[in-house]
Amino acid sequence: MSLLIAGSIATDHLMSFGGRFSDSLVVDQLDKLSVSFLVDDLEIRRGGVAPNMCFGLGRLGLRPVLVGAAGEDFADYRSWLERHGVDCDSVHISESQHTARFVCTTDASMAQFASFYPGAMSEARLIELAPIAARVGAPDYVLVGADDPEAMRRHTEECRQRGYPFIADPSQQLAFSEGALIRELVDGAALLFSNEYESHMIEAKTGWSGDDILDRVGVQVTTLGAQGVRVQGRGIEAFELPAVAEVEAIEPTGVGDAFRAGFLAGLAWDLGLERAAQVGCVLAAYVVETVGTQEYSFTADDFTARLGRQYGPVAAAEVDERLGAR
Ligand SMILES: Nc1ncnc2c1ncn2[C@@H]1O[C@H](COP(=O)(O)OP(=O)(O)OP(=O)(O)O)[C@@H](O)[C@H]1O
Ligand SMILES: [Mg+2]
Repeated sequence: MSLLIAGSIATDHLMSFGGRFSDSLVVDQLDKLSVSFLVDDLEIRRGGVAPNMCFGLGRLGLRPVLVGAAGEDFADYRSWLERHGVDCDSVHISESQHTARFVCTTDASMAQFASFYPGAMSEARLIELAPIAARVGAPDYVLVGADDPEAMRRHTEECRQRGYPFIADPSQQLAFSEGALIRELVDGAALLFSNEYESHMIEAKTGWSGDDILDRVGVQVTTLGAQGVRVQGRGIEAFELPAVAEVEAIEPTGVGDAFRAGFLAGLAWDLGLERAAQVGCVLAAYVVETVGTQEYSFTADDFTARLGRQYGPVAAAEVDERLGAR
């Protein structure tokens, strides 16, 4: 199965300040604002929706192709991903800009100063999919995740022209996108991923009803947080699946991406939609239990045992056959 995963590539630089920002701000001097905070801690986390999903797929023994743009500083991140089974040979490296970076300082009262530098991400629009397909084989799916909006539009358009099945996963970009762009990204997708809030945003911004959307995509997968997931589509029986129950939620960042990785692995293994959703929920559970989006690990036995406890022995046996054989 050839899976192209397109989307943002970024790192998060997270700092914590022990005091309160508000104690350092002089309200009537804001026009001359210049403050510096001595922070206690810096954490650098690997992120970006595309590497997050690729990492999860790699963990499950697949070999996804990462499609996105980064800077010269990508070298360390690249080796990490390659060590975890991700094909990074098609990442576009900018000659002039750094990899996208989210920089955020949080104070003791949870107030935040944050900035997002898109940097090299804006060059994702220069990436053409055809040469990648020539290298790795015609894609079974191209996932178009949150990225430079022009890149998302271009990838989707190229998929339509060349007949590559595509998966619409606009997530964070929905808030910043006009209805016209969202319609372009979603119309004709083999699969549409979103969480529940985003599914309402898609309806509101496109002007399409839930039924209109089902007429335009193959399958719509809506994640419901700790409630699990809903899967529906024309000609398939809709179902809802509970999330994994015994989860010690530590930090949810990246759950959505992990769910998608598991779901796509289930499809790659040809196990059908329900099994795919189960694999997605189990992989997501591992992420909620760790800090960071690519810090979890498990053995094939752990994974299938957990799947079995939640969704039964038949599911576990089917997944074990694929995962154990990797
Ligand atoms: N507290 C939880 N316990 C167990 N599973 C969870 C929990 N939260 C999320 N999940 C799993 O993760 C999946 C995706 O969650 P959610 O709908 O919150 O995604 P999201 O809003 O896109 O998240 P994000 O964008 O922050 O990554 C759910 O379908 C569920 O399987
Ligand atoms: Mg999400």
